[in-house]
Amino acid sequence: MMKTHTCGELREQDAGITVSLAGWVNRRRDQGGLIFIDLRDRWGITQIVADLEGTPEAHAVADSVRNEYVIKVTGKVRIRPEGTANPDLPTGEIDIVADSIEILNEAKTPPFYINKDEGTVDEAIRMRHRYLDLRREQMQYNMILRHKTVKFIRDFLDKESFVEIETPILFKTTPEGARDFLVPSRLQPGKFYALPQSPQQLKQLLMVGGFERYFQIARCFRDEDLRGDRQPEFTQLDLEMSFVEREDVMQLMENLATELVKTITPEKRMISEPFQHILYKDAMELYGTDRPDIRFDLRAIDISEIAGRSAFPVFVDNVKVGRPVKCMRVPGVAGELSGTQMRKVGKELESMARKAGAKGLAYITIPTDPEGELKGPIGKFFNVDLKIELLEKMGAEGGDLLLFMSDEPEVVYAVTDGLRNHFKKDMDLDPNLLAFCWVIDFPEFIWDEENQRWDPSQHMFTMPLPEDVELLDTDPGKARGSQYDLVCNGYEVGGGSIRIHDRAIQEKIFPLIGQTMEHAMEEFGHMLEAFEYGAPPHGGMAWGIDRLCMLLASTPNIREVIAFPKTQGGMDIMAHAPSTAEDEQLSELYIQLDLPEEEEEQTEI
Ligand code: AMO
Ligand code: AMP
Repeated sequence: MMKTHTCGELREQDAGITVSLAGWVNRRRDQGGLIFIDLRDRWGITQIVADLEGTPEAHAVADSVRNEYVIKVTGKVRIRPEGTANPDLPTGEIDIVADSIEILNEAKTPPFYINKDEGTVDEAIRMRHRYLDLRREQMQYNMILRHKTVKFIRDFLDKESFVEIETPILFKTTPEGARDFLVPSRLQPGKFYALPQSPQQLKQLLMVGGFERYFQIARCFRDEDLRGDRQPEFTQLDLEMSFVEREDVMQLMENLATELVKTITPEKRMISEPFQHILYKDAMELYGTDRPDIRFDLRAIDISEIAGRSAFPVFVDNVKVGRPVKCMRVPGVAGELSGTQMRKVGKELESMARKAGAKGLAYITIPTDPEGELKGPIGKFFNVDLKIELLEKMGAEGGDLLLFMSDEPEVVYAVTDGLRNHFKKDMDLDPNLLAFCWVIDFPEFIWDEENQRWDPSQHMFTMPLPEDVELLDTDPGKARGSQYDLVCNGYEVGGGSIRIHDRAIQEKIFPLIGQTMEHAMEEFGHMLEAFEYGAPPHGGMAWGIDRLCMLLASTPNIREVIAFPKTQGGMDIMAHAPSTAEDEQLSELYIQLDLPEEEEEQTEI
């Protein structure tokens, strides 16, 4: 073995022993007769001393090494001379006096610092040299955190009698609302496998197969537009249980989340234990989104009744035709601002609202002086009594800003969400706060105006709530699904539902979502058939492991918790994937290309 110890483990009590360490040169300082090397490996940093007088050969090698060289050092552990201990380093009490230093491999000067925080290093450069980026302390921490997270999940579920089963990657379409990645088949000319968007069908078939409790750390593939929290391939904790109701799955998942956080990141604090349950309808009305960040309290309150009695024609007219007027109280922001400053802020907020589709964004500021006047473009439309009613309803205090939105509900939701995200940026939220909540009672379907059909709000296998099953025949838009989403700090961490296990109910879904029975039989006939052979009632959930790790690692960028992620353009810019195929490969697959005009290669992250 090249190493007797790691670079993170030697302490004062090891003084006097001879050790061999190996790793990377993190930093080298030349003080003439003495050269100091900070030797780094996965476990930490240990200081090496090469002394010109004592061991001139080792000193000569130390003289020639540079940052990131790979070296092996043999020498004696010594307590550092008085006054030279480094309290910032766990090994800071000792150093190794080198008897010999061997260069195992040289290194070119890296394109960015490995031994300092990446700071402003262009992410494209980090990605191009990901193998170097992974050496950085933060990336090492993130990857190990991910390992521990998955290990915890495996152990937890094993104790709960779940069986880990792998399902195929070369399969058939398993729609979750994105495009499929297709893989052409050589053996079946003209046919394609679809990579799974999730193992949804297969895990349900495992329930028909009698396993009762299944899980998998499953790679999923979705060809969709990428964002900060989305990758084209990502990892799910996918699980399914038989003979359960939704509360059973939710409770077990909540226990998993709570114990996981407490064990893996004890520095994190969870608000709301047990997790708050928020109805989808309330999430939309109060927060404008189905994945609310409940670490802070800005909410949109319906004030239609009061606004309808004001003299502001826009509000009065909207209320008459049933469009809501909503108000959001932003505590304290107006207190410090002059009239001119407030008008500027008002304009910025209004232009943001317009971008979200609104026709305006009215505001009123509450003076800090109790005798002062309410200010803002629509203050004049509310008489004194109405103002008092409004302030009471909103719980407004001196210095607050009240923002008013009135439009179609969808526009009000978008503005509410936009405003919350805007104010959140200045909030200085504790990075160690995790605000989990459940969002439940989603609609089973959402109306797709363009294609004039219902789209499943989750996926086509979600069972409506028992009391709403009949609505599939009479009023499908009103049916609520048994879906539950686990949300944390504004991210959808996971989602699941109780499934349809009855062929007759499943068959009702297809025409509603615009699929002919013929097409449904072609794509999903095996599911319908399976339901006829004693399919147990079942339900489950999938968590986005990448998103969960983002939250645990306190990063808003999913690429920080994936070893080799893709760019926004779906590329690996280190290995240059995707790449072109040889003509021979294409002809073996019976593929001819019909490409658009050549486009510039995209390197945007
Ligand atoms: P869903 O589509 O909600 O449900 O996916 C489950 C979770 O996976 C994560 N996720 C993603 N993470 C990174 N990049 C992506 N492109 C991406 N897409 C989704 C999210 C999401 O909550 N079969 C159902 C689950 C079930 O019903 O059991 C499903 O896949 O965190
Ligand atoms: P106006 O009378 O059109 O100048 O509007 C007065 C104020 O009301 C401006 O601050 C507008 O931004 C705001 N406003 C106009 N329409 C709406 C609306 N539908 N919802 C909220 N505020 C609005």
